[in-house]
Amino acid sequence: MPSKDSTNITGDPIPLIALDDLTAGETKGVEIELDDVATKFSVKKGKRLDLIIWHQGNEIRVFKNACPHVGLPLETFPDRFLTADKKHLICSAHAATFDHDGTCIAGPCPGKSLTEYKTTTLDGWLMLG
Ligand code: FES
Repeated sequence: MPSKDSTNITGDPIPLIALDDLTAGETKGVEIELDDVATKFSVKKGKRLDLIIWHQGNEIRVFKNACPHVGLPLETFPDRFLTADKKHLICSAHAATFDHDGTCIAGPCPGKSLTEYKTTTLDGWLMLG
């Protein structure tokens, strides 16, 4: 279930990653080119959308890779978005820590949330929208 800050996307779903390329309990970073669908994502046309995919075991959540503190991407190393115990997302800049639905629970922006995107699955792919 998307959080209250989720962005609902209408129109054709966009393929993000094959489900076989995700591992339960792990995260992946994915960038997509938006082009003519940019307005659906509230970013300027032609921009790329930087996403965090978190396979939480029983569900897969997708967040915009932009910290609600000052907007920086969360990771320092590719695909490394989780705390050492792999229970939370953590921003490498100032250690904002986020729970399973993207809400900041510790660090400089408590109560703020990562932007979450609605996803579906189709023919073995995780789809945005
Ligand atoms: S930019 Fe993420 S905690 Fe400051």
